[in-house]
Amino acid sequence: MPALTLDRLLSSIGFGSRKEARALVRMGLVELNGEVLEDPFMELAERPANITVNGEEVPTVEKLYVMLHKPVDVECSHNARDHQSVFALLPDRFTAMGIQSVGRLDADSEGLILLSNQGDFIHKIESPKKGFLKRYRVTLARPFTEAQKTELLKGVMLKDERRPVLAREISEERVVLPDGREVDTVVITIGEGLYHQVRRMFAAVGNHVETLTRISVGPLELDATLEKGGWRFLTDEEVAAFL
Ligand code: URA
Repeated sequence: MPALTLDRLLSSIGFGSRKEARALVRMGLVELNGEVLEDPFMELAERPANITVNGEEVPTVEKLYVMLHKPVDVECSHNARDHQSVFALLPDRFTAMGIQSVGRLDADSEGLILLSNQGDFIHKIESPKKGFLKRYRVTLARPFTEAQKTELLKGVMLKDERRPVLAREISEERVVLPDGREVDTVVITIGEGLYHQVRRMFAAVGNHVETLTRISVGPLELDATLEKGGWRFLTDEEVAAFL
């Protein structure tokens, strides 16, 4: 393995090519432990936990595992056309590091979205064989009936799908909104990640989803302390729970 020089370190965490990283150092913008580093070719015995670039302290991890609270009107695409891109809510350097979303949420949906630059992690969670369950909280346009619940648990046929898809679990919960209003919600757990799956399932039984929030993926729940649009790194334990 080539020695870990300062320009290599910066480039590996999204600060451009090694040449661009060297320019940052020469401009005096890079500090470690409060000291400006002047030599872009300086060798580091080990990866420091953080480094300061242009006044901002940044962690030096190369493997990105991120949870984000997606707001509505944000698209899970690098080339978003009609709305803001989810990647615009993250530091630009994450895009340079190859970050992708793990599956997608519609522009009209909100809640937990995972992002990573590690193909095996993305693949494991997206793979239907691994069977990570996803839970969504929805509000509906019409009252939710026992007959609709029974049908969803038995399985419904969606257009262009070969097999019926079924809800693994359904519960009804009354929640209090931040403004004090109480609303009836339905929490539905599914195993697949088909296009507009939850909306299409409720439409198939004669109802209509008005709002949709993803509240968990596999063992991971949406962190209630994350504001809409906010993100945080996953802990090592959270990553290990998937792998
Ligand atoms: N099902 C939907 O209909 N939309 C989503 O964003 C996710 C699941």
